Amino acid sequence: MAGSLIGGLASSMADSDAHAEVAMMVYEPDSARAHQLEQDFNVRLAASNEQLVAKNDVIVLAVKPQVLRSVLEPLASEFAARKPLIVSIVAGVRAASISSWLQADHAVIRVMPNTPALVSAGAAGLYANEAVTEPHKRLAELLFDAVGISCWVAREEDIDSVTALSGSGPAYFMLFIKSLIDAATAAGLDPHTAKTLALQTAKGSVQLIDDSGQPLQTLIDGVTSPKGTTESALKVFQAAGLSHIVSDAFEAARLRAQQLAKDLDPDN
Ligand SMILES: NC(=O)c1ccc[n+]([C@@H]2O[C@H](COP(=O)([O-])OP(=O)(O)OC[C@H]3O[C@@H](n4cnc5c(N)ncnc54)[C@H](OP(=O)(O)O)[C@@H]3O)[C@@H](O)[C@H]2O)c1
Repeated sequence: MAGSLIGGLASSMADSDAHAEVAMMVYEPDSARAHQLEQDFNVRLAASNEQLVAKNDVIVLAVKPQVLRSVLEPLASEFAARKPLIVSIVAGVRAASISSWLQADHAVIRVMPNTPALVSAGAAGLYANEAVTEPHKRLAELLFDAVGISCWVAREEDIDSVTALSGSGPAYFMLFIKSLIDAATAAGLDPHTAKTLALQTAKGSVQLIDDSGQPLQTLIDGVTSPKGTTESALKVFQAAGLSHIVSDAFEAARLRAQQLAKDLDPDN
């Protein structure tokens, strides 16, 4: 995930003078991977996390949730001295946990990105704690708009909803597309043709929603002629309770995000 952010920001910096003053430094413990990042994206390498924090105004946290506490605790004095903006993409770790592990209040922006960021089509939800300033927010937008789009949420618990919507969402859409391809293949369509048509239908539907500006129900009604094929299919979805299945699945993901946060830091 950090690699995709670095790649996105590097290419948007190359395309725009506006980012000319931004320079990236990375600490990556695997030295082969670190040198690959240096070669691919012209980032500077830090020798340690201590050096990284001491020299930079924005620190992006992108380690696994289970290791974040052990990474941050030894860095408390470097963070206290530099007071950088902290941008955390670490799933499930609350801003209060980060401040408590660093033994001081810090400006923290929590972000839930998603994997389409790898192809510059990400959707990120962002939450800022009280210490974050407007210029900090513009910086975070610069980072995540470089790999897709970003939306602010007002409350930290909204990040759990973002997790259930866009964080986990790529898997939901992919599962639906896969089921459609499997059904068409089972009916005799060759798999390549089924995949090509399904993918273009997904992309075309999104583009139509975006470009037409019409409400979703109007667009659904537009494809659904009375007693036609679409109506037959939609009746099956309705009978199976598709909208309830989707809301139950969303809620399961949201509650799991809450639980993971509690497991990672029962005190916050
Ligand atoms: N993947 C997703 O779809 C997604 C979506 C939303 C949020 N996130 C969040 O993004 C974060 C990263 O996820 P990921 O899937 O990209 O995990 P990942 O591939 O394991 O990346 C974690 C990186 O942190 C490095 N690292 C380990 N210990 C470190 C230390 N002490 N100091 C500095 N770097 C260290 C790892 O290096 P080594 O491999 O050498 O240990 C690795 O390069 C997670 O917190 C996850 O919750 C991921």
